[in-house]
Amino acid sequence: MAREQWKSEFGFLLAAVGSAIGLGNIWRFSYLAYEHGGGAFLIPYLIALLTAGIPLLILEYAIGHERIGSAPLAYRKISPHWEWLGWWAVCLVMFGIVLYYSVVIAWCLDYFIYAFDLTWGQDPDRYFFKKFLQASDSPGEIGAIRTPILFSLCFIWLVNWWVVFSGVQKGIELANKILMPMLLVLTVILVFWALTLDGAMDGLKAYITPDFSKLNEPKVWIDAYSQIFFTLSLGFGIMIVYASYLPDKANITGTALMTAFINSGYSLFAGIAVFSVLGFMAQAEQKEIGEVVSQSIGLAFVVYPKAMSLMPGGNFFGAVFFLCLVVAGFSSAISIIEAFVSAAVDKFDFPRKPLVTVVCLAGFFGSIIFTSQAGLLWLDIVDHFITHYGLVLVGIFECLVVGWLFDIGRLRDHLNRISSVRLGKIWEILIKGFVPLVLIIILVGDLYNDLRQPYGGYSWTAIILIGRDWLLLTLIMAFFLANRPWRTHNHKLPGRSDCQ
Ligand code: ALA
Repeated sequence: MAREQWKSEFGFLLAAVGSAIGLGNIWRFSYLAYEHGGGAFLIPYLIALLTAGIPLLILEYAIGHERIGSAPLAYRKISPHWEWLGWWAVCLVMFGIVLYYSVVIAWCLDYFIYAFDLTWGQDPDRYFFKKFLQASDSPGEIGAIRTPILFSLCFIWLVNWWVVFSGVQKGIELANKILMPMLLVLTVILVFWALTLDGAMDGLKAYITPDFSKLNEPKVWIDAYSQIFFTLSLGFGIMIVYASYLPDKANITGTALMTAFINSGYSLFAGIAVFSVLGFMAQAEQKEIGEVVSQSIGLAFVVYPKAMSLMPGGNFFGAVFFLCLVVAGFSSAISIIEAFVSAAVDKFDFPRKPLVTVVCLAGFFGSIIFTSQAGLLWLDIVDHFITHYGLVLVGIFECLVVGWLFDIGRLRDHLNRISSVRLGKIWEILIKGFVPLVLIIILVGDLYNDLRQPYGGYSWTAIILIGRDWLLLTLIMAFFLANRPWRTHNHKLPGRSDCQ
């Protein structure tokens, strides 16, 4: 069957931007920015974007476009020994990230509805942890499934299913053509409204006033590189498959630059709203801004709701904010499902529609554990292991395999033949040396911290059984899938530059 294609290059750009802009852009970025010295964080963030984010994004687009395939197929066409790497990327995200990511979108959907009458009342902290999540004290105390979350989760998976089921053009491309402009309008409303709040300027000052002393801390740099990695959906296998749906002639490097700048521009812009609200909160509660900032989840589900209860028209503002999160998260979730579905179709020739149904059902059932009373703790552990180890390892291998075992010069020639922005030798140097080195440093830094004391203060048993083993299971799954025989001839087809 002929490979599906985007209707237009603009449709591809929107889908890639939709995948990149997600839950992480809105509050994780803002939290990191504040935590790491306000304006000063922008320096490592932008350096990480230029030295690792953009080169890797170009690499993923190049692999998908030149090798014409989803991640496993593309790696298989690079070398049969590395097919597992492509499977690992798509298994990590399909059986890891999207399971809890959908649950966080479900929380946002519930909070979108709660915003209308400010259900959380005067004590959003208590409401979120004690009433909404009924969070247990340890990951072993699974407790009951929280039905309000389960219902929203069901809805989220139903919409996920519908979009991916409808195909690349009629599903993903169309959904992003609706969702991305919608997200932009909602965010503009949010930012301008937030700017009118009392105290907004103090918040902004905290956002843009640099504290350069923070630049000496290695953690600031590690967090900046990790944030860039996650926010551009790198190592997810998504950008590879999305680029494979492009026609022979496509402006790959130009689109990569646009994707990266729109994504980071969005984070910076949304940060204005987040900090203005923090400034408002600080003034209303007569506190320093530092005292009202809280960890990522607390920022969205505790600090923000508190601010909404205090501001005039807070219920409308709250609805817009949580809708933004739902829209941003949703366009990322569908891209993850597509990365896996496309991989399975490429190799096993499964009929796409029934496959999407099975995958989404599996996804829904897999998500349920995160709707339990221990869900927040499980989510925290699984997320830590997958993003800090899984994705980073995929990124390291990706650079080394393509940089050293494949003819990366050929990829560069291919891109330069069809793209508007020419790539210099520096790109090859970054991919072969600098980017893997930085990623290895991040990995070692995280490993060192995690071995010194268990992550998040959880018990070693929880860390090993939930974190490490979840990661290992996705790896076993990847090897299993990579070792199944091919039911199509896709892996024997030439890449685009083989035909030159
Ligand atoms: N890139 C997506 C995000 O930032 C996954 O949430």
